[in-house]
Amino acid sequence: MEFAKQLQMIVQGSSLFNEPMANHTSWGIGGPVLAFVRPETRTDLTAILSLADANNIPVYIAGSGSNLLVADEGFNGVVISLAKTLKQIRFDGTKCYAEAGVMLGHLVKECIHRNLTGLESLGGIPGTLGGALVMNAGAYGNEISNYLITIDVVHRDGTIEKYKKKQIEFGYRRSSIKSDDIVIAPEFQLKHDDPESISLKRVDASIKRRSSQPLRFRSAGSVFKNPKPDLSAGFLIDKAGLKGMRHGDAEISEKHGNFFLNRGNAKAEDIIYLIQKVKKVIKNKFDLDLELEIKTLGFEKDY
Ligand code: EPU
Repeated sequence: MEFAKQLQMIVQGSSLFNEPMANHTSWGIGGPVLAFVRPETRTDLTAILSLADANNIPVYIAGSGSNLLVADEGFNGVVISLAKTLKQIRFDGTKCYAEAGVMLGHLVKECIHRNLTGLESLGGIPGTLGGALVMNAGAYGNEISNYLITIDVVHRDGTIEKYKKKQIEFGYRRSSIKSDDIVIAPEFQLKHDDPESISLKRVDASIKRRSSQPLRFRSAGSVFKNPKPDLSAGFLIDKAGLKGMRHGDAEISEKHGNFFLNRGNAKAEDIIYLIQKVKKVIKNKFDLDLELEIKTLGFEKDY
């Protein structure tokens, strides 16, 4: 039987076939994928993985698509999104157990309700907990891994394993979590604090973010990693005079040089043009190699 039909038969959640990823990325960019699937449960997830494996169909695990550039030609595989499923959150005193599909901002609100401090400066980061952990998302001197105690992952063969934090290496926007493993549930150790002080930290991060980042427009957050801890890619792009540069409907933000905006109908090709241009100029001017912070899907080469 054709793969799409088999998939349709086993998925308990929702599945969309030949679905443009433009509908599922914060950039609003990206061509069609063979299937875009939202599993309903862990069992559903493992069944989809086995089916794809048995049919030799590549699988990509997406969070909420807030840090992802998909090629205009799309991707000949299955995209599994955990953003609308795996949404449980449970608290036990100062411990917090949450599933990978929970949006980071939502988790922060739930923590604040319970006077739990730790994650509040990360509240404005768009994206799911799973994605945030795999790349160790951070903001304002804080990284999500700082509060982690354990992670449950699903291996591609469907088995589930719990890792202690010390078994995983976390660095700047990276972790040693294998690309084949799917984070399904982390557990955090937070601390009690008084509500005013937690709210103040959250408001402070939110004001800084709003004043420095172009949040009203479609983007994917920072396009490049910072080349050194105290050297912002946005600062370099600014100094190189590249802000405001446009290709098609893609534009390097005037407000923050590391944010590339979709000002209408930008294509992946337009974003790639700007990425290549910026990399070249920064190399020539500062002898630095910028690396992508965003994830890419469906391209024949790495950028
Ligand atoms: N700057 C400029 N011009 C610009 C952009 C920045 O001069 O166009 C200067 C700023 O004035 C500031 C310095 O560069 O002095 C650093 O800028 P910012 O505070 O905006 O931080 P960043 O290093 O550019 C990082 C993260 C952001 C995170 C902020 C706040 C990376 C790649 N980016 O940006 O994360 O929100 O710090 O902590 O590490 C993301 O990952 O998507 C993201 C937005």
